[in-house]
Amino acid sequence: MSKRTLLDKFERREAVIGVIGLGYVGLPLAVEFAKAGLRVIGYDISERVVASINRGTSHIQDVSSAELAALVKAGTLVATTDDARLAEADAISIAVPTPLAKTRDPDMSYIISAADTIGRHVHADQLIVLESTTYPGTTRELLQPMLEQAGLTVGTDVFLAFSPERVDPGNARFHTGNTPKVVGGVTPACTEVAAALYRLCIETVVEVSSAEAAELSKLLENTFRSVNIGLVNEMAIVCDKLGVDVWEVIEAAGTKPFGFMKFTPGPGIGGHCIPLDPHYLAWKMRTLNYKTRFIDLASEINSQMPAFVAEKVALGLNANRKPVNGSRVLVLGVAYKKDINDLRESPALDVIRLLEAHGAEVVFHDPHIAMFREEDGREKFGVPLTDAELELADAVVIVTDHAAVDYQRVVDHADLVIDTRNATVRTRPSRARVVSLATIREPDEPAVTGT
Ligand SMILES: NC(=O)c1ccc[n+]([C@@H]2O[C@H](COP(=O)([O-])OP(=O)(O)OC[C@H]3O[C@@H](n4cnc5c(N)ncnc54)[C@H](O)[C@@H]3O)[C@@H](O)[C@H]2O)c1
Repeated sequence: MSKRTLLDKFERREAVIGVIGLGYVGLPLAVEFAKAGLRVIGYDISERVVASINRGTSHIQDVSSAELAALVKAGTLVATTDDARLAEADAISIAVPTPLAKTRDPDMSYIISAADTIGRHVHADQLIVLESTTYPGTTRELLQPMLEQAGLTVGTDVFLAFSPERVDPGNARFHTGNTPKVVGGVTPACTEVAAALYRLCIETVVEVSSAEAAELSKLLENTFRSVNIGLVNEMAIVCDKLGVDVWEVIEAAGTKPFGFMKFTPGPGIGGHCIPLDPHYLAWKMRTLNYKTRFIDLASEINSQMPAFVAEKVALGLNANRKPVNGSRVLVLGVAYKKDINDLRESPALDVIRLLEAHGAEVVFHDPHIAMFREEDGREKFGVPLTDAELELADAVVIVTDHAAVDYQRVVDHADLVIDTRNATVRTRPSRARVVSLATIREPDEPAVTGT
């Protein structure tokens, strides 16, 4: 009966959807449900986030304030810090953070807290879906007992599933609505109900046979990226030692029309997913006495890239008879990837920390980030990207290749550019000496690839 009740409500679009956690994942999802004509209650513990959403102001780059304001005004989407309102929801998606503790073990406190919140209000005829990336088994081991403690049977009274979020911040082509969504329930009925919910607002829903398969699919996706980035970063180190241009090698390999997928090296990995998620799997496997060697190796290589970059800066300065100590270094781009304003786990923070530890005076410019806090809590404000600022710098380090930066201007005015992203590849030969991850381009010399 319960399953039919929910499926009918979904079909008639009369269901109320709760979303717990209104960040990079939760807010776009809430908006997608609201756009599909469902009434959405977004719950977050942050007063600031809730107030801003209810004012129609988006704090997430991929959600426009105009779109959000229209949904809030129409009463389709409301944000609240009152968890009791979750009792009104027919379906609840959980999108809270899953960081790592300092020991690199999973920090499950946010999921546990969200589970406690749901436990206080859960009732029959509800669907609960976990979206936060986590280790395989979380949905069944952490959330199912919470529902059962409330006296409910999963698969008949209430439904429980895992459906990983795949949002790629800043991606202009793929967003929540047109990215296929994997759904795996704790029972077949749970999968059916959860898939029916997401079909209301997601173009393609992919059902798998269990919550664990869904949990692992997300970890495979992100481990795949971490391992391949680790491989290509190692290739950059190899090319550096051999004096070969890694970008030329990648471009050449990329002409193979099958069996090769292009990844690019860089200053390290950042964001909420790729540096963290594989460790959820590694941790789980350690509890089963198995060592996930690919994950550990990729993490080791990727995490040494900021030091590789800092060394390139030191060598570049050295060639100009300057020590790192006392040199002015302009870091271009601090976001963890191109064209976004997210600093989480950004390798730029490590590059800056390493250079400052060696006495450099580090300033930064990022068209998307005006200020950030360093580890010791100090606020660091960006500088404008002017000709004078470029000329003043003893070295310019391109850490993030934002499209809004004019790289020709950079090589025209800087003396020394450490380009970790091949952002200067299409610039004309100019004043700067450009040190890429693997090669040095002398002043007035054209780039090998891409010109
Ligand atoms: N950001 C991404 O690109 C991305 C992509 C795919 C998957 N994910 C996964 O999605 C999950 C959420 O990540 P995010 O980037 O959206 O995080 P986020 O930090 O942007 O947002 C999380 C929100 O949850 C709120 N919150 C924390 N604890 C809460 C609680 N107990 N109850 C209610 N609200 C609470 C916070 O105030 C915050 O607004 C993570 O597991 C992450 O790994 C993130």
